[in-house]
Amino acid sequence: MTTPPQVPDDAQLLELAREAATKAYIPYSTFPVGAALLTASGEVVQGCNVENASYGLTICAERTATTRMIVSSDGPDDADARRIVKVAIVGLKASPCFPCGACRQVLHEFGCQSVIVEEDGAPRAYPFAEILPHGFGPADLENPEG
Ligand code: THU
Repeated sequence: MTTPPQVPDDAQLLELAREAATKAYIPYSTFPVGAALLTASGEVVQGCNVENASYGLTICAERTATTRMIVSSDGPDDADARRIVKVAIVGLKASPCFPCGACRQVLHEFGCQSVIVEEDGAPRAYPFAEILPHGFGPADLENPEG
């Protein structure tokens, strides 16, 4: 986790995602993906995909970044460091590279508001409600109506 001197713009966040993708552990798919998320506390956390010989245990770049975010925080009271403002995603062999369904759900858990991908070489931000319409999240468990 790094605290940049100023909050990175979407193009800078994509570059940090691209850098993370170069570190991917991808002996099976050879499909490198990187993610860089911005927390509400202004920190950037990078992730890459980490594959496994059992295939199904592969962890996507977005989830690697999310779990790093949680362990890098100072704990449950450090709420802003555990909230995702936005995430940039780069697939070195795919442009744009959108998050898979499982990652959409995990990003939603931590309040992600926007997904940035690269389209025709330029950053494009998608509101999270377009990425995961009618998402189920922590607030739904607190609905007093049941
Ligand atoms: N992958 C990601 O890391 N993020 C995505 O959003 C899509 C897929 C990875 C998983 C696997 O290692 C490889 O890309 C091919 O599916």
